[in-house]
Formats: sequence, C-alpha cells, structure tokens
Amino acid sequence: MLRWLNHATRKVLAIVSPQAGEGRSWLAANLATVFAQVGMRTLLIDADMRNPRQHLLFNLDNSAGLSALLSGRAGKDVAKRVHPDLRLFVVPAGPVPPNPQELIARPVFDVVLERFHSQFDLILMDTPPAADTADAYLLAARADAAVMLVRRHHTRAAQVSTAMEGFNLSGTSVIGTVVNEY
Ligand SMILES: Nc1ncnc2c1ncn2[C@@H]1O[C@H](COP(=O)(O)OP(=O)(O)OP(=O)(O)O)[C@@H](O)[C@H]1O
Ligand SMILES: [Mg+2]
Repeated sequence: MLRWLNHATRKVLAIVSPQAGEGRSWLAANLATVFAQVGMRTLLIDADMRNPRQHLLFNLDNSAGLSALLSGRAGKDVAKRVHPDLRLFVVPAGPVPPNPQELIARPVFDVVLERFHSQFDLILMDTPPAADTADAYLLAARADAAVMLVRRHHTRAAQVSTAMEGFNLSGTSVIGTVVNEY
C-alpha cells in the first residue's frame, strides 16, 4: 500500500469484502489509525450507509454524515477529528437513507471526494458487503483502488472469485488482500 501511495494522484482506497461480518469496518478503522500514526493526513469515510459502524468505533455523533453530504444537506465539516494528536478525520455515514445506492451513484460523490483531496494524503472508504448490492462496486469505482478482505474459515473462495471478477469488470484495481483471522 505504501508503494501504491507513492503516486501523488492515488489516495482513495475502498476496503471491500464479499460478505457481512468479515471485518471490513474493523480493518478500515485500524488502517486509518495506523496511517494517521505514521503522520499521514487520513480521512475515513463510512460509505456503508446500510449498516454504519464507524461512528460507534470512534464514538462520534451520527446525526449528520455522508448521506447528508451527498444530498446537499451538509458540508465538509461533517468530517470529525477523532483525536487531538492524530490527523485522523472520520465522516460517519449519517442516518440510514432510504436510497443508499442512488446516493452513491450521484455524480456529486466525486465532487465531495475532490474537495477532500487536497486536505488529505489518504482517504479510506468502508463499504457494504460486495455480494449483497452494487454499492461496493460503485464505491470502489469512485476510489482509486480497493483492498480485498477475506475472513479465515468464513469467506468462500467462490465468493472472492465472483467479487474479483466484478471489480475487474468495473475497472477497479485490487491492490492487495488481507486475511482476517478471528
Ligand atoms: N481481527 C479481528 N479481531 C477481533 N475482532 C474482530 C476482528 N475483525 C473483526 N472483528 C469484530 O468482528 C465484528 C465484525 O467486524 P466488522 O464490523 O468490522 O465487520 P464488517 O465486515 O464491517 O461487517 P458488516 O457487514 O456488518 O459491515 C466486530 O465486532 C469486530 O470488532
Ligand atoms: Mg461494516
């Protein structure tokens, strides 16, 4: 990942996995923390608007978040700094909207990412399970690349193949995989 990040134009990374409960949110939160700890200005966006998690992990108010940002009801200040010593900001998902996929598909998402681009060295996105909806594919397509998480003795090889095919078809490069052992 560090090699990948050496390119100035690459900074948005989606954390994806096929199924629910494999540890995407946990990995996204931990990666964001680790990158902030090595001095990178890091933004974590909870783009799982179906089952938001990051506001719980970072103990943030979830009354305004990505859903409000994408529907034009909030500005960049929905990104909250989580610790005074770390340059780590989190955009919570916000209240669950009736139309998450429609919000993700809106062109304004690219405008939102572009606005954060100059402020951060790395932007991580938490995503919903890839096998359930098109959300993860749409999100990964907006990112510069994706990291595929699999959970040991839980994720099935066929599901990973299907997801990888999907990401290839939508032009997303999967730059690495993580095996979650828990
Ligand atoms: N490596 C790990 N060690 C300990 N606990 C873990 C680990 N990975 C995940 N967990 C725990 O497992 C549960 C599910 O993880 P998490 O919420 O990150 O999964 P997810 O893939 O985001 O699930 P969802 O589909 O609900 O979004 C959480 O309680 C999380 O803290
Ligand atoms: Mg999650």
